Amino acid sequence: MFQDKKVVFSGVQPSGNLTIGNYLGAIKNFSTFSEEYHCFYCVVDMHAITVRQVPADLRRRTYETLALYMAAGLDPKKNTLFVQSHVPAHAELGWMLNCFTMFGELSRMTQFKDKSQKHADNINAGLFTYPTLMAADILLYQTELVPVGVDQKQHLELARDIAQRFNGLYSDTFVVPEGYIAQTGMKIMSLAEPTAKMSKSDPNPNAIVYILDSKDDILRKFKRAVTDSGCEVRAGEGKDGINNLMTIYRCFTGKTNEEIEAEFAGRGYGDFKLAVGEACADALAPVREEYTRLIADKAYLESVMKEGAEAAAYCARKTISKVNRKLGFVTL
Ligand code: TYM
Repeated sequence: MFQDKKVVFSGVQPSGNLTIGNYLGAIKNFSTFSEEYHCFYCVVDMHAITVRQVPADLRRRTYETLALYMAAGLDPKKNTLFVQSHVPAHAELGWMLNCFTMFGELSRMTQFKDKSQKHADNINAGLFTYPTLMAADILLYQTELVPVGVDQKQHLELARDIAQRFNGLYSDTFVVPEGYIAQTGMKIMSLAEPTAKMSKSDPNPNAIVYILDSKDDILRKFKRAVTDSGCEVRAGEGKDGINNLMTIYRCFTGKTNEEIEAEFAGRGYGDFKLAVGEACADALAPVREEYTRLIADKAYLESVMKEGAEAAAYCARKTISKVNRKLGFVTL
């Protein structure tokens, strides 16, 4: 699509306050692609409505997510930053790809099964076909690389299968995307229940560290993080809490497990938790500061959204025209 550069695409749902899981698994890595790739980073508000949202909250979080993208280092001059509902081609291709996605495939998606349990009173068709809309997001821009946390791997594989199926039936139409899953930080666990993923929709606020938490809150949450009955800071089987804290510390400091074990030899969990909290708070302080500046300027954020949507829509149109032609729709 872009003669000079390959394409990166990723998205974040504005469905809750963003966590250090979102940051370490995805957002922090986004800016590393900005020079070498043509990058599209989207606020996926249409995905968010697969579970009930309070409209005012959804609107506010859409601005917040965009501001956080930028606070985390994404320059709107070097990246196309936009909101999914501003580019109707996502819904358009989503529908077409629904016709190339099997009921059985969607039934096997673990996120659908999890969310159906959590929202048993609202198992809507959108929740079921969520992965097809995600495939549309990706395939619309002829994406090569998709940076995501490991929880999105199954959705990504489905996007690849859909692309290959369509290409097989209609000749090459879509680039078949690859996932880019960070080595460290691909799955940050809950601080309260370290066998479960840290999730922005978790009702227990002590389980989650938000990107925008104050330093005091961050320190308090790490202090209360669930560990085990041992006292030696060492990675190992059955030490889910410590393993998770070591991962977080590695992400924020760049240290290895061996270095961390040496640093905390003979010092116990208390000292370690404090150090993880400090490292996290220090690393996020500049993000929080920049975010505070950006979120105060709605007009600027709207101008970024508008420019981003125009650039994205232009690229998306090319793929839609191609798909329309291949499917046999009459084009005027
Ligand atoms: P979402 O909004 O749940 O999460 C945004 C990104 O954060 C990653 N992530 C995590 N990484 C590590 N540890 C965690 N605890 C953790 N929690 C979340 C997610 O893997 C994701 O990369 N379906 C997507 C949004 C989406 C999308 C797309 C992504 C829609 N269309 C197209 C990529 C490409 C989602 O729900 O992300």
